[in-house]
Formats: sequence, structure tokens, C-alpha cells
Amino acid sequence: MSQSSPRSHVIDHPGGTVRVVQLTDTHLCKSRGGTLLGMDTDHSLQAVINLVKAERPAIDLLLGTGDLSDQGALEAYQRLPGYFGQLTQTHCWLPGNHDLRANMALAADDPLRLSRELRVANWQVVMLDSQVPGEVGGELGASELAQLEHALLAAESEGLYSLVCLHHQPVKIGCDWLDQQMVADAAEFFAVLARFPGVRGVLWGHVHQQVDRHLGEIQLMASPSTCVQFAPDSVDFRADPLPPGYRWLDLCEDGTLRTGVSRAHGVKFNVDLDSDGYQ
Ligand SMILES: [Fe+2]
Repeated sequence: MSQSSPRSHVIDHPGGTVRVVQLTDTHLCKSRGGTLLGMDTDHSLQAVINLVKAERPAIDLLLGTGDLSDQGALEAYQRLPGYFGQLTQTHCWLPGNHDLRANMALAADDPLRLSRELRVANWQVVMLDSQVPGEVGGELGASELAQLEHALLAAESEGLYSLVCLHHQPVKIGCDWLDQQMVADAAEFFAVLARFPGVRGVLWGHVHQQVDRHLGEIQLMASPSTCVQFAPDSVDFRADPLPPGYRWLDLCEDGTLRTGVSRAHGVKFNVDLDSDGYQ
């Protein structure tokens, strides 16, 4: 990889399909072995990483899309390179509502980690910050929307396709309790995207469940957490017994985006399904 500015990186790639993996909502606790709803989030993350190793042996880019720690502890972020680095040294992080930006920055062991624009082959990956400090819900705000527009203008001028990543969901997903937390300025977000036909995907975390939809040429994707899952179509908080998982994305040379989700079936995980919340 080479660094073209503090916020923008060009990732070395021979051309052709770019193989991406998303790991999201790892919720690592301050101490190794800490739990979320009874689930050891270090153990579940390692189980998912083992699955990625078996299924996706060569990846070009790993995206950590927020809630990387459960309580913002520096020690949680300091363990991330040991986990993500098992798959590739080319891994990038963006913050979720559970994260503490200052500690993420302290633990970032490479300027690439908090990069906002990644150019790889004929794609650009834009990393946005939808965190509102102290709030569970998300909002991009004027500066993130301006950063998005700037990145997409640059991509368009260079003939690149784009994948846009953020933590919170920009569309309602059908869970009332989660949909109260969606990106507050989603209409403005989609108004920017609509001006750039090279945008092929929007990818997020936060909802701890798989969502796959289309909006014209744009694929809208949410993904399982590497720990506890949330049940689809729930009015109030409800955990789901589905196992932890990850999403893979192949960014093809012709602008096609192929994607899928895989889960760590066959591994035993503890989870408190009777819990009525986790905040
Ligand atoms: Fe989360």
C-alpha cells in the first residue's frame, strides 16, 4: 500500500477482481474474554476469522464497520490488529455508536486504519463516520456529506466504481427499535449518491443481521455481527440464535459487485436469548 494523503490511500493490486471481507460489530470488551449477552466476543470473532481463513484464503481488503469495541476501551482496539491481521494487513476501521474515536486513533497501528478513501484497482471504497457522540442513532452531517461528495467526484473523474461504507443503516430494515436509530439525514445521503452512477454498493453494520436489497444499480447491504445477532422483523429488542458471521464482496473489473454472507455454523456459542436489551 502507499499513502497519497492522510485520508486517502492507494492499495497495491494487480488489477481484476478485488476481494473484500467485512467484519462488523465485533464488540470487543476491555479484557479478553469479556461478554455481550453472555457471548465471549473474542471467542466469536476468532471463530469467524477461522471461517474466513477456510473460505476466503486470499483477500485484498478487510473492512471493520463499527462497534469494534463494546465500551470504547483502548485495550479492545489494541487487540484488533492481532485479529484482523490474521487475514490481511490491509484492514480499515470506521466508528460505530459503541466506539470512542480517540482510542481508535491511539490504537491505529498504521495510517491506513482510519483512512477515509481507499483506491484499489478500478474501485474506490469510501469510509464514512455516522457516529454522533453520546447517541445510539446515527447522522452524517454536513462535513461527512461533503466528504462523500468530494470522494465521489474524484472517483467519477478517474473512472472508478464506488462502494460506500458506514456504521448505521441508511434505510429502515423492519425492526422498529433499530429503525429509530437509522441515519437521520439518510435523504441527503441518497441525494448525493443519486448524482453518481458509479456508486454500486452501500455497506453498513449496526443491525447485527443480514439485509440485501437493491436501489437501482446500488446494492444495499447489512451484515451479521461477529458476535450476537438481532432478530429480523422485531418490534422491541430481540436476540437471534443464528450464529456469528461475515460478508464477502467481490468488486469486479466491470463494476459488478458480487456478495454473500457466511456464518460459523457448527461452533458452540453462548447467548442470552431472553435479554431485553444490551445498551
Ligand atoms: Fe453493534
